[in-house]
Amino acid sequence: MACTNMPPPPAGCEEFVSCLENLFSLSLNDSRGMIKDFHEEMRKGLSGQASSLKMLPSFVDRPTGKERGNFLALDLGGTNFRVLAVQLDGKGCAAVQAVRKFAVSGEAMQGTGEQLFDFIADGIDAFLTENRMKRSSSFPLAFTFSFPVAQTGIASGRLLEWTKGFTATGVKGRDVVGLLNDALKRKGISCIAVSALVNDTIGTMVARSYGDPTCDMGVILGTGTNACYREKRLKIEKLKDRRFRKYIMINMEWGNFHKVRLTGYDEQVDGASVNPGAMHFEKLVSGMYLGELTRLVLMDAIERRLLFLHEPKAAGAFGQKGLFRTEDMSLIAEDETTDLLRVEGFLQHRGITVATPHDKTFLKHLCEITAGRSARLGATAISSVISWMDPELKDRHTVAVDGTLFEKYPHFKTGIIAVLQELHGAKAEKILLVHSKDGSGLGAAIVAAVAAAESGLNG
Ligand code: GLC
Repeated sequence: MACTNMPPPPAGCEEFVSCLENLFSLSLNDSRGMIKDFHEEMRKGLSGQASSLKMLPSFVDRPTGKERGNFLALDLGGTNFRVLAVQLDGKGCAAVQAVRKFAVSGEAMQGTGEQLFDFIADGIDAFLTENRMKRSSSFPLAFTFSFPVAQTGIASGRLLEWTKGFTATGVKGRDVVGLLNDALKRKGISCIAVSALVNDTIGTMVARSYGDPTCDMGVILGTGTNACYREKRLKIEKLKDRRFRKYIMINMEWGNFHKVRLTGYDEQVDGASVNPGAMHFEKLVSGMYLGELTRLVLMDAIERRLLFLHEPKAAGAFGQKGLFRTEDMSLIAEDETTDLLRVEGFLQHRGITVATPHDKTFLKHLCEITAGRSARLGATAISSVISWMDPELKDRHTVAVDGTLFEKYPHFKTGIIAVLQELHGAKAEKILLVHSKDGSGLGAAIVAAVAAAESGLNG
């Protein structure tokens, strides 16, 4: 119900907002400081010292664009997993021929590893049947596994930690390709040969760089957040294996960057997560946590009697973990109508029928504060990596980005570009952010093709 004749905003609102704006601010100076810290952590991570940035070498460089063939790809990274059939034409064009998406249930995420991998194998089984793929043939499969993995080869690697709410037991420390193979064996599927293991950041970057040689960074801003970039082999001091080429892509696992200022709300989000004390940057930035963080701010405002003063149901509507999601914020941010009618519709849907104009604008503003910090942090992290690769910003850098925050959250991308401009002035034009939609699966297939062409690592 639109209330036009309501009392002015409750006293204390302005102070609350300005206090929040302060808490969630990231000034230009703060960003510059963060870039320094980022570089320090990158340096330590590359040299093998303790660092919040794991800086994990993948076993691949960018593709040439000439890779060709048909590959299957399996993409596990969050609440969904997908199986894809991909065709590479050898001329920089990768096409998805078939795809099937499966929702990963809570039991699969948080049960045993065996349950999780059996569930994945069942998905592959269904995909093979659905697409009438002959089980007498052999299909090379690229596995996009979007968690921190210490690669031991192009198609093997140990899980270091679960992130993004996964806790499946018996997986940490094990080779995830081995676990997938075991599950395939249990299901009697012998026509699949896993030929590459890839992080989603690497897949995203590879998918773009297949047809674009200026692409040297991949970023995910979605359920989780992370980045990869192209590093000179000689700068990776911890890499003892000298068989690699001049460059290797590094999966940074930047979600774990910890030199960030936490507000009390962030501490609550962290404390209620399955991995308290870890992945601080991800918890400040990514879609899995942003809604919950904002819910805590809303609840604080409600308890201080600054929001929904005339609606007793509000505290119940937002009173529990998970009751406000990043998708809800997206919907609220999208509403450009004068009376915020979509916000009103959203609230009504939640049983909140008495919302004053102040309530609606206040709610929208609170979302802007937390999402604004997320975009600023994301932009600063991107700038850190680009300035690490090219301190003077002499070359063009295409950054392949995927993830729902980047793709769908209103003004998120423009927010990032604005910060890049603040940090780099006119030179920011050299940083081109492109959406690499569903690149992680496509890119993994390309990595599988690189692996097939090389069949092992060459010098
Ligand atoms: C989490 C994972 C990381 C992944 C990112 C985006 O941060 O640890 O491997 O790339 O989410 O999906």
